This record gives sequence, C-alpha cells and structure tokens, in this order.
Amino acid sequence: MERTRYLTFALGKGRLARKTLELFEKAGVTCEEMKDKDTRKLIFTNEELGYRFFLSKGPDVPTYVEYGAADIGIVGEDTILEENRKIYEVLDLGFGKCSMCVCGPKEAGELLRHQELIRVATKYPRIAKDYFYNKKHQTVEIIKLNGSIELAPIVGLSEVIVDIVETGSTLRENGLTVLEEICPLSARMTVNPVSMKMEHARITQLIHALKEALGKE
Ligand code: PRP
Repeated sequence: MERTRYLTFALGKGRLARKTLELFEKAGVTCEEMKDKDTRKLIFTNEELGYRFFLSKGPDVPTYVEYGAADIGIVGEDTILEENRKIYEVLDLGFGKCSMCVCGPKEAGELLRHQELIRVATKYPRIAKDYFYNKKHQTVEIIKLNGSIELAPIVGLSEVIVDIVETGSTLRENGLTVLEEICPLSARMTVNPVSMKMEHARITQLIHALKEALGKE
C-alpha cells in the first residue's frame, strides 16, 4: 500500500509552540517526540498520523508555508501581516492575544494629533508604514529595529514605536503608554494554497477537530 504523504507543520518557536501543542493534544494531534525538552532535534514525526512538525523563528513560518516546505504554519497575526506571503489564513486559534499599538511617552500623543513628521521605531515596518501612510495619511520616518523596541523613545532614537502590547507591563515599567491601537492580534493557522487543494480532506478534517477543541463547533 502506498504510504500517506506527511503533512508538515511549521510552528513558531517559544510560547506559541507550547500553546499550539496543548491545543493539538486536545484535538487528538499528538507528538510525543516533541515533549523532550532537552532534544536538539529539529524535526519530529507522528508516523501513525503521518504528521511531521518543526520549529522555526516566527517570521520564517510564513516563508516555509508559501514555498510549500510546510503545508501548515502556526504563527501570530502580526507576523502574517508583516511578512505578507501568499498563504491562506484558515483559523483563529484564540491564544496569543495582544494588540499592535503606537506607543510612546504621553507627550508624544500631541505629535500624532498634529500630523508631525516623526520617527517611528519598530520590528514591523510594513505594518507601521501601512498604518501611518494608508490609514492616517501621516508622513513618518520608519526605523527598523530587531527587539527591545521600547528603548527607542527612551534614548531618543524615535518619538514613538509600533509594537505588540500584551500585558502592558514593559510599557509601564519604562514610563511609556499606548497612544493608538492599530489592531488586535492572535495566533492563526495558515495553509499553503496548493496543499489546501491536494490535501483538502485531511486539512479540513484537522480544522474541524481544532474548532471542536476550541469549542467553536
Ligand atoms: C514583546 C513586545 C514587547 C513586549 C510586550 O517583546 O515587543 O516588548 O513583548 O509584552 P507586555 O505588554 O506583556 O509587556 P518580546 O518579549 O517578544 O521581545 P523583544 O523585545 O525582543 O521583541
């Protein structure tokens, strides 16, 4: 008998991957190999289900899915919007809830109201550009950073930042505040468009099982 082709899952490393595996377990999708915290393996399989899983940096997940190296990707909506890849977004997984916001010291609110030419530091230049240019029609200078974005207004690199706010404690502890909310975010399941056609039955079955585990069906 011909062996079933593996369905390959790319998971964003860290908290999102842990939450994803919890949800998958509830839906009957298990991967014992992945539970070993000390493993240096990069790829894990469940032979019975014909599933294969790997962990990658969040921003790489949509890339693997677009090229078909992964059939399915689990990643935050922030990364999906920023990477803008040709992939289908099929399910809101409900966890990893946070917001994309414009933040800064309270006084910077005035600069936003008066459409001033300001500097915006962010890990998300595409989202920031879309918000300021297309929604607010405000010309700004966008400065790409790779982390600890809250530092930028404190040390004078920029007037405001565009970043994720979850609990708000990083902002609070650094004397910053939310000035404008851009959009709410959460973890999403994404699918390669060709896989969606070729593996339609298996993928829809999985979506149903996940919806059920989420209490959506
Ligand atoms: C994210 C984000 C904020 C923080 C928000 O950073 O960039 O800094 O979490 O969370 P909070 O509202 O609960 O404080 P992350 O920890 O991913 O690291 P980074 O600064 O390197 O991007």
